Amino acid sequence: MSVIVSPSLLSADFLNLGKDVEMVNKSAADWFHLDIMDGVFVPNISYGLPIVEQIKKIACKPLDVHLMIVQPERYIEAFRQAGADILTVHLEASTHLHRTLQQIKSCGMKAGVALNPHTPVHSLEDIIQDIDVVLIMSVNPGFGGQSFIPHSLEKIRKLKKLIQATQSKTLIEVDGGVNTQTGQELINAGADALVAGSFVFKSPHPADTIRMLKELKTE
Ligand code: DX5
Ligand code: ZN
Repeated sequence: MSVIVSPSLLSADFLNLGKDVEMVNKSAADWFHLDIMDGVFVPNISYGLPIVEQIKKIACKPLDVHLMIVQPERYIEAFRQAGADILTVHLEASTHLHRTLQQIKSCGMKAGVALNPHTPVHSLEDIIQDIDVVLIMSVNPGFGGQSFIPHSLEKIRKLKKLIQATQSKTLIEVDGGVNTQTGQELINAGADALVAGSFVFKSPHPADTIRMLKELKTE
């Protein structure tokens, strides 16, 4: 299976968002990665439900929504209404993670769990079979354009083992500092999906950059 590529619109041109959404529609990308920040869970505020709703109107690919917010369970239904297909909450922000995942799935979405760089993979041991996607943060969440944290590779290898040992169908997605070099290392370590923001949108030819990520193969 080829790697799933999920461009993060956090680095898109917000004055011409429609144009960037169309670019992703026509590109080799698989998903749209949408970063929702509340200024509490992370020290930044991005965009919210009305923008997700507008993107949904023209997006031809699934919306992969990454909630960097406290008490994410309060907004599950609202993000479903806005058009989320995959809804990812942070483990660090979810007191009753099992219940939250069941709620996401009962609304008809795929359920994701994100781990901050300091959160060990073994904290997922007793919940892995309920998770559709684990989002390994390879930077501290809150901003685009940060440097990749190399220890993330070790976390991916551990997570892959946990998934195999429990015969789960969980996908491993990685977010932060992804480019073709780190992307290659991530795929070798076992990543199934790559999020890329600044590497795609700050490049001269974003669709070609997406294609380069999409063509990475395990070495
Ligand atoms: C960071 C966000 C990322 C961000 C990645 O908190 O979760 O999705 O857009 O940006 P890059 O790819 O530039 O590191
Ligand atoms: Zn993200």
